[in-house]
Amino acid sequence: MLNPEITKLINEQINKELYSAYLYLGMANYYADQGLNGFENWFFVQTQEELDHAQLFRKYLLNNGESVVLTEIAAPDAEYKDFREPLVKALEHERFVTDCINKIYQAAYKINDFRTMQFLNWFIEEQGEEEMNADDNIKKFDLFAGDSKGLYMLDNEMKARVYAPPSLVLD
Ligand code: FEO
Repeated sequence: MLNPEITKLINEQINKELYSAYLYLGMANYYADQGLNGFENWFFVQTQEELDHAQLFRKYLLNNGESVVLTEIAAPDAEYKDFREPLVKALEHERFVTDCINKIYQAAYKINDFRTMQFLNWFIEEQGEEEMNADDNIKKFDLFAGDSKGLYMLDNEMKARVYAPPSLVLD
């Protein structure tokens, strides 16, 4: 059993992680339409990671005897004004997710829910990486994508990203 407020927040987080997957899938589609298959790949891998995050939160509720409540997932943007805009929106989004996870942690801390705090530790570290990666993408874009040759090379680098399952496993 978990505290009802913690259960509610984690259920909401499942929706946010699924929205994240949807958002990044939309960005992958945008880049695919523009012929930037490396950027498409990067965001498709990101989509897969977000589905993993949703699954981890889902499994945590189930393992603690709580029901999972699935709610409607909002449609993400389909159009962007330029190649840089999704990168900026991705960073903004990751900062928002970090804030959401911190709020769950704060709620768990208030009621001495050490189990949830320990579970969230993985996500707190993960969010540090997520923000760093999103920030790196903007920096690389600004440094190297100023002309078509640089954009081509950066796209090739983005193509090299490979999906890896999360280091946290919940049976
Ligand atoms: Fe699930 Fe990108 O945070």
